[in-house]
Amino acid sequence: MTREELIGINVGIVESVVSGVLTNSPNAIIVMVSNPMDTMTYLTLKLSKLSKNKVIGMGGALDSSRFKTYLSIALNKPANQIEGMVIGGHGDTTMIPLTRLATYNGIPVSHFLSEKELDKISSDTMVGGATLTKLLGTSAWYAPGASVSYLVDSILNNRHLLIPCSVLLEGEYDQKDICMGVPCIISKNGVESILDLKLNPDEIKKFQNSSASVRSMNDALKDI
Ligand code: 2OP
Repeated sequence: MTREELIGINVGIVESVVSGVLTNSPNAIIVMVSNPMDTMTYLTLKLSKLSKNKVIGMGGALDSSRFKTYLSIALNKPANQIEGMVIGGHGDTTMIPLTRLATYNGIPVSHFLSEKELDKISSDTMVGGATLTKLLGTSAWYAPGASVSYLVDSILNNRHLLIPCSVLLEGEYDQKDICMGVPCIISKNGVESILDLKLNPDEIKKFQNSSASVRSMNDALKDI
């Protein structure tokens, strides 16, 4: 088995899809949805040679929607009054739900929920996809479609929405040469800018662990 097969990526197929997209739509902005999402985004960026604002991994929008849903259930408050973000890798062990910054109508959720409750919400969020797969046989259902559509709407209508997306980091969050989920402003140009948030020591450690794990997956593609 080759290293690529070990992580379930067929580089030849990705190459032919990317080349087909760019032959037919040279100005395309590519939104990557396939798993392992951060590695697929990185690979697509390398193969396409597009500028980094034009290759966007969709994971953070989906993970954040699950985070907000679990917060809404625990708070017994409407999900559309809850703000929250998941950064890091799009994987069961690499996601970082930012509980410290989540709010209900501007009020930090820590005002209502204990640390133990917030930890449970984080871990439920991190296995959100796996939980759905157990229940439905797949998680490729309504939520990923809605999340892609939210992202594409911000591109097509130049909305400048703040959405956590997997993008190439060049020094932000102390990382280079890796695609990972970070808060991005999404406009007609794709990634308009990255917000380099000041994380606390616990979040920094989680981000470093997450990047180490994404990097080990990327290493399977080293020769490309
Ligand atoms: C999901 O999060 C498994 O990545 C897939 O639903």
